[in-house]
Amino acid sequence: MVTKKAQYIKKQVRKAGIIGLGSYLPKKVLTNADLEKMVDTSHEWIMTRTGIAERRIADPKEVTSDLAAHAAKQALRSAKLAPEDVELIILATITPDMQFPATSCFVQTKIGAANAACFDINAACSGFIHGLVIAQQFIASGTYDNVLVIGVELLSRFVDWKDRSTCVLFGDGAGAAVVAPVKSGGIISSYLGADGNKSDLLMFPAGGSRMPASHKTVSEGMHYLKMQGNDVFKYAVRVMADAAHKAMKRAGLAPKDIDCVIPHQANIRIIEAVIQRVGVPMEKVFVNVDRYGNMSAASAIVALCEAVNEGRVKKGDTVLLVAFGSGFVWGSCIIKW
Ligand code: COA
Repeated sequence: MVTKKAQYIKKQVRKAGIIGLGSYLPKKVLTNADLEKMVDTSHEWIMTRTGIAERRIADPKEVTSDLAAHAAKQALRSAKLAPEDVELIILATITPDMQFPATSCFVQTKIGAANAACFDINAACSGFIHGLVIAQQFIASGTYDNVLVIGVELLSRFVDWKDRSTCVLFGDGAGAAVVAPVKSGGIISSYLGADGNKSDLLMFPAGGSRMPASHKTVSEGMHYLKMQGNDVFKYAVRVMADAAHKAMKRAGLAPKDIDCVIPHQANIRIIEAVIQRVGVPMEKVFVNVDRYGNMSAASAIVALCEAVNEGRVKKGDTVLLVAFGSGFVWGSCIIKW
């Protein structure tokens, strides 16, 4: 007879995998030609420095939780689950509907997931990977069966459209994954890291307790995204490559064992430099930064969703996700599909 304790221990080692995926990209496309009319820039500069050709911009009537709800509903349909089956919603964003309540609570109402616990996480561009790793812990421990992990951003409302050094880089979008127990495969390793000493290089300076919103902060544009791009670039390359190697080491895998890499989509030059250090050929890397720009927490999950839909990730494949963002924070994860 199996004792309760034995059942509990068995539950503790449950494997977690992704059983459903969804994404949502707003319809409006903002091209580099459009940006040439807004700031002193050129299609050629943006393409050669970043690889971004266009990005999506949310409708003025849309808010972050709307984008997230669209992606979440699609993920639930693909997992063949009802909204009531969701036990936990983890939503990663740096551009929430408002400071509080949590955007995940708005999503819960919009999708009808009445039985779900909800919380938001802030791990910037690594938000989806951090969310996935948190979901894995809840599933491994037996606490929950169906966890919805959402990465969503509405960055177009938080960038300074007069600042050419940042406004050309970002876009809006959402992606969602249903994480549940799986018999084999699933998440086989992960690694998370952080360096708070670098927090000043990429932030929204105003609007928090350090610099509360005031007429002065608004007139000085301190509520907009501020970044020292060059320093961020160098750090990102180094730690993303390191995070990829650490996840491979923890899984006992070598670069040749990886079938598809889903890197954070900030800049094609960052992706290429990381991939060179990881030692995987570029043909195995999924890239969509050209179409969407940097969607922070939404980038990796939208890319994963598209890679699966396009047949770039197939059953049995070994997928490496790796991301880096403000904090600095970074993360990597290997999934046997
Ligand atoms: N169009 C034209 N010129 C621009 C420009 C734009 N959109 N943005 C900046 N420039 C100018 C700068 O003013 C600077 O001019 P100067 O030499 O006369 O001062 C010049 O281009 C070079 O700027 P620099 O910042 O050195 O360029 P870079 O090669 O580092 O590229 C980024 C800039 C932002 C593309 C690059 O640093 C980057 O991608 N960083 C990482 C950003 C990122 O991904 N952050 C999120 C991580 S999650």
